Amino acid sequence: MSKTTHFTELGLVNTREMFKKAFADGYAIPAYNFNNMEQLQAIIMGCIESRSPVILQVSKGARQYANQTLLKYMAMGALEIIKESGSSIPVALHLDHGDSFELCKSCIETGFSSVMIDGSAWSFDENIVLTKKVVEYAHQHNVTVEGELGVLAGIEDEVSHEKSHYTKPEEVEEFVDKTGVDSLAISIGTSHGAYKFKLKPGESVPPLRFDILKEVEKKLPGFPIVLHGASSVLQEYVQIINQYGGNLEGAVGVPEDQLRRAAKSAVCKINIDSDGRLVVTAIIRKCFAEDPKNFDPRKYLGPAREDLKKLIIHKNRTVLGSADRY
Ligand code: G3H
Ligand code: 13P
Ligand code: ZN
Repeated sequence: MSKTTHFTELGLVNTREMFKKAFADGYAIPAYNFNNMEQLQAIIMGCIESRSPVILQVSKGARQYANQTLLKYMAMGALEIIKESGSSIPVALHLDHGDSFELCKSCIETGFSSVMIDGSAWSFDENIVLTKKVVEYAHQHNVTVEGELGVLAGIEDEVSHEKSHYTKPEEVEEFVDKTGVDSLAISIGTSHGAYKFKLKPGESVPPLRFDILKEVEKKLPGFPIVLHGASSVLQEYVQIINQYGGNLEGAVGVPEDQLRRAAKSAVCKINIDSDGRLVVTAIIRKCFAEDPKNFDPRKYLGPAREDLKKLIIHKNRTVLGSADRY
């Protein structure tokens, strides 16, 4: 077994102070998922340039893909680059959608500063038991924990079905009290992936359930709330993908103005993965179509990384409001 590493050895921070500042100043911390070097470079360079705090997010699948040991050194490398550039932006390394105590523990042992335990598929009581167990272990190591209540709609769900999964505001206080979580992911109409809403011709995206968010805020004053499934599925990139041989007809996301409004409230962390995937896919497809002789990864991953960095800066500046904070 590899040696245990505490997140402070890597130069990381947990999310506590980040959220406190974001809450007080009315913005949200961006949580960007990454799986490889180019994505990590784009996130880091974009956040340095826009002077934004950042949560680097790794799913269970990403951890398997990239290798847990390599991930630790990638995070360390990212921190080193930030230092060399003279930037002081804080960085957390976070497990996204942890599904077991063992996975959370293992991430904490390899240097993660924050973990999510997603017990939302379990019953309310089972979710409490699992989440509490993770919190007790994590807090011994000063690692912060995100829990989840309510289920984000699957892409195949009908609208009527989606409604039954929204977070119940009457449950949040008991959940937070009994588990001791540091932040809470809630379901107010967002969902994962590139097909967030099934729209009939002429229909527009339904607004997020700000009424539920308001009720949650009343029950948990000053408590950091998290939004998953918050990609906007930028049509500019969907069009490039479709133009160059892809097929993402009907892909649609959460409008940016809705997210900006959420970021001004108790929402302190906004998760974005799909938007980054779309940018990378669009630019690689375009590169291949425009130059069929291109077989140098630097000449298609490089341009993809450049556009991804621009997307990160755009998100931080105009959607999350996290730019120019450090
Ligand atoms: O919410 C899930 C994230 O987008 C991560 O996705 O499990 O395919 O890495 P993944
Ligand atoms: P998107 O699929 O909307 O990017 O959501 C990502 C997410 O919630 C990661 O946990
Ligand atoms: Zn998620």
